[in-house]
Amino acid sequence: MFFGWIGWLVLAGIVLLVVLFIIKKRNAAAKRTPDPDGVPEVPGWPIIGCIPALLRKDFFLDVQLFKKLGPIVRAKSPMGVFYIVSEPELAHEIMLKRANEFINHPKQSETINKVFDLTEMLTVVRDGIWKRRRRMLSPSFHWKSIQPMLEYFSTHTNILVERLLELPDGTRVDMDDWLARMTLDVIGATAFGTDFHALREGSEVSKAAKVITTDFQKSGARFLLFLPYWEKLPIEGLQAPLRAFRRLKEIIAEVTKMRQSLPPEERPHDLLQTMLDAKDEETGQSLTQKEILDSVFLFLLAGQDTTASALTWALYELSQNPEAEAKLVAEIDSILGPDGVPTPENINDFHWAEQCVKETLRMHPSATLTNRDNNEDVEIQGKIYPKESHFLINIWSMHYDPEFWPEPKKFDPSRFDEEHKNSKSLLRAYLPFGAGPRGCIGFRFALAEAKICLILLYQKLRFSYEEKEKAEPMGFAGSKPKNGMPLVVHHRK
Ligand code: HEM
Repeated sequence: MFFGWIGWLVLAGIVLLVVLFIIKKRNAAAKRTPDPDGVPEVPGWPIIGCIPALLRKDFFLDVQLFKKLGPIVRAKSPMGVFYIVSEPELAHEIMLKRANEFINHPKQSETINKVFDLTEMLTVVRDGIWKRRRRMLSPSFHWKSIQPMLEYFSTHTNILVERLLELPDGTRVDMDDWLARMTLDVIGATAFGTDFHALREGSEVSKAAKVITTDFQKSGARFLLFLPYWEKLPIEGLQAPLRAFRRLKEIIAEVTKMRQSLPPEERPHDLLQTMLDAKDEETGQSLTQKEILDSVFLFLLAGQDTTASALTWALYELSQNPEAEAKLVAEIDSILGPDGVPTPENINDFHWAEQCVKETLRMHPSATLTNRDNNEDVEIQGKIYPKESHFLINIWSMHYDPEFWPEPKKFDPSRFDEEHKNSKSLLRAYLPFGAGPRGCIGFRFALAEAKICLILLYQKLRFSYEEKEKAEPMGFAGSKPKNGMPLVVHHRK
């Protein structure tokens, strides 16, 4: 195929940037305390290091490999060295017991966030600035603040249910896509204060949001993000999300301005409003416009696809496990009947629905990995790790460790029965929302949204999976289903 001189020029530019990047990384590494000796390593190749191993689709799920190598394993790549932690007790030490020494995420993401101008996101800010921001955002996610938002979850799930009921009984649809649109509408309504209409015709704003949350995640262009000056590359896969970000920023600016002109009694009870009203309990300061804007983006990035993926897999697992499905339907029928609605008063009665969500997140954690770096040189298990080492917490393999989860490939929501509440498995080896002070701020929001969605879907519908091949995760570090989620929708009689 004729590549064209512009193509060659772009390719040469990319190669040059890769070389410059590797040289910069090596120079920076040479100035640090050396990495400790004697840490087991992921087998790798010269220059490209462990990249071939990482590209193995089930690498992070390889419980036996990590058990054989040890609780902490070094992996070298052209992007740098990182340490994979796959042992629950050590993860607990890093994320909880010694959280003060490991309070930040590694800095790499800053290059991306500077271009998108998202430098104030909670996941990016460090140390004292993170503490202040987290303190100010936390009340937005207290149960008291979330209760009025349950209505948004119901409203948008009901639109989804209506749309599915409009289809003839027995229609096969991609539920991954439908649920992504539903969770997009929920984040639109609660964080952007805007109806995205993603479940109906799909507005211009919802299309921009989809570019960022879905299209960009699937595009190969995202692998170029580590390059310096990537934003200058004339590649549509990189330019489209930049344009989408600019458009969404304009929307947030317009909505927040409009909110300030509303009388207090007319202001909605949503995430955006709780942020506009937030006051730092220590200083009395409010969040700045930029802090709010960056937080809204973070909620879109961290809260939409994650919840959609959990729901998609829940439907799949329930389609494969008729007993668990029957128990869910019985719970819904006994608490709500055919026309009741979930409310703040009854939502905590749906124990089985909650257990189904939790077990889904064990088998299919939306975030398979999380990370931490250390503020100073630290000692772990007798070895000194230099300041700002990159620790990758392998959530996925812990969730499949047979020592904690007998028959780990079996979908069994009873693992989360009341009697197991204080089990070692739950307290140590279950990390779908991370752990410690840096754990997921939105976990109550996500659990409530997922529960309400499951309840309202199964109140009217059932789903069966009729494909020849079993559904599979994308692999590498991604647990999202590889080929969407084709499910046949049945109306409940
Ligand atoms: C099923 C859905 C979700 C899953 C599985 C999930 C998972 C996670 C995980 C694993 C982390 C990293 C925690 C750590 O490193 O210890 C995280 C952080 C975060 N999540 Fe979630 N999340 C979900 C939904 C949400 C929602 C709905 C929101 C907001 C609306 C949200 C906002 C955040 C934020 C802001 C952080 C960064 C916290 C910080 O750095 O202080 N997440 N999430």
